[in-house]
Parts: sequence; structure tokens; C-alpha cells
Amino acid sequence: MSMPPVFDPHSPEARAISVLFAQTLVVCAAIGLLVAVLVGYCVVRFRARPGDPAPAENPGNKRLEAVWTAVPLGILVLLFILTARTVGAADPPVDREPDLVVVGHQWWWEATYKEGAVTANEIHIPVGRKVLVRIESADVIHDFWVPQLARKIDAIPGHPGFIWMEADAPGPYVGTCAEYCGVEHAWMRILVIAEPQAEFDAWLAHESHPASALSSDEAAARGAKVFQEKTCINCHAVAGSAHDARVAPSLTHLAERKTLGAGVIGNTPADLAHWLRDPQGVKQGCHMPNLNLTDPEVNDLVTYLETLK
Ligand code: CUA
Repeated sequence: MSMPPVFDPHSPEARAISVLFAQTLVVCAAIGLLVAVLVGYCVVRFRARPGDPAPAENPGNKRLEAVWTAVPLGILVLLFILTARTVGAADPPVDREPDLVVVGHQWWWEATYKEGAVTANEIHIPVGRKVLVRIESADVIHDFWVPQLARKIDAIPGHPGFIWMEADAPGPYVGTCAEYCGVEHAWMRILVIAEPQAEFDAWLAHESHPASALSSDEAAARGAKVFQEKTCINCHAVAGSAHDARVAPSLTHLAERKTLGAGVIGNTPADLAHWLRDPQGVKQGCHMPNLNLTDPEVNDLVTYLETLK
């Protein structure tokens, strides 16, 4: 069984938050335990017995009042200092241009690298390097949260934010939108793939170019035509073609992604066909309409989209 991500940090920033969580938990647990023990002791030791008079009160005990003011104040000051130190460690100042811009949409994430690559819902980063991400929103308030790599940050329309992200080991790290943003809030997953620098560079170079030459396959050519005629092009971009709409996820390298619909299903040809046939059945309320495609159209479209690598 794997640890919940909050307890398994993989960056200095996330580790600082995890440590603060543990420290706060220890302080609060100690207080809770002390109160429970004292209450239990008093309930037994000072319980009313038949014939006992009403207990005497002890008003105006200055020393007692000083103690019960000073101790909680000291605990709060301690927690404040720990929190302030964590904020500094988890959120270092921004000192350069961002490496990529992530925009929250209902209900998916768009990522644009400064080198020009555009992708959706899957973000690649190099291992062991601090990546500065600019966070924006295209519509309502979202919240970008990959708990193992960085703090949370709201994506607020018209008000960009910045976050440092880093991974100390290769791997996929799962994140999610953490601010309720409408009907498909739950399916606004983020997959951060951390990989060695050389692999990352290769990925970025590949991603910055259009998909390799379209296959000469007849079905793929028919699918490309369906893509234009069924107005997919009004929302989706495919680099290297004339389509550069930014309303919906760029499909430039769609076939390489692990999931569709921001994590709602996988990305096999069968999944893709399912999605094209009935997007509202797969992700109810999403902005992808049902285009009432025929089975041959779906097959051709899938063949075409699978060439986008
Ligand atoms: Cu986007 Cu919740």
C-alpha cells in the first residue's frame, strides 16, 4: 500500500509542508491527550458522592490565570514561527521568467512551455530542477495541486500566480484541481511526469514540433477530413495543420497522452472511440459536444488521431 501523497513529499517545498503538518499534528495530539487525561482524572477523582456539599469555587487565582494564558500563547507563537518558516521554504520568491504557463479551464489544464510546446493535462518536468510555473485561469477559479511536488495555488481569472515545482525522483506524480469549479471538478486531474534531463529535453523538442508526417493511410486521411468537416477544428489545435484554436486541448501529440478528458478514461483507441461517440456519457457536462458521428466516422477519426504522436 502506498502512502497518501501528502505524507510522501518529493521536493524540498512539499517536504517543508509535510514536516509542518507533522509538527502541528504532534502539538495538537499532545494537547488533546493532556486534556483527555485531565478530564478523565477529574471525573473519577472529584465525582459527587452521596452527602457531599457543593464544591467550593476558586475565583481570582492570578497565578493559574497567568499560566493558562501564557502556555497557549507560547504554543501559538511556536506554531506561528514554524508556519512562517515553512511559507518561506515552500514558496521561494520568483526571480525569473516562468518555464511554463498552466491555464485552468473547465475542466482540463493547458500547459504551454516557453519553448513553444503546448500540451494538456500531462506536464513533463526534468528531475532535480526547480521549475517555475505561472498559473492562470481561463474561466472560473481553479486550484493547481500536486501534493508531492509543491504547495497548492489558486488559478484566479485575471490574476496570475507563480509556483515552484520540483521532483527529486523520476516518476509520475498525480495532482488535481483543489477548488470546486463546476460539475466536472472531480475530473480535472494533473499528471506530472518527472524524468531525467536528457529525456525531458528530448520530449520537449519532440513536443515543440508537429506530429511526424501524417501517414498515407486512407482511413487516416478520411479521419483528417472528418476532423475538419465536423468542426472539431473550431476548438482543437493540431500543430502543423491550419488548426490553432485554443478553446479545447491541443491534440498535436494526443496519441502520446495517458488519459483523455483530464483523467476520466485511458487513451487506448477503444477509449478514444468511446469518447468520440459519447463524450457526455463519459464526462457529463464537459464542453465537448456529441457530434453524432457515425461508426465509420468514429473509426476514421480514431485512425487519424492515433497518428498524432
Ligand atoms: Cu477546476 Cu476544480
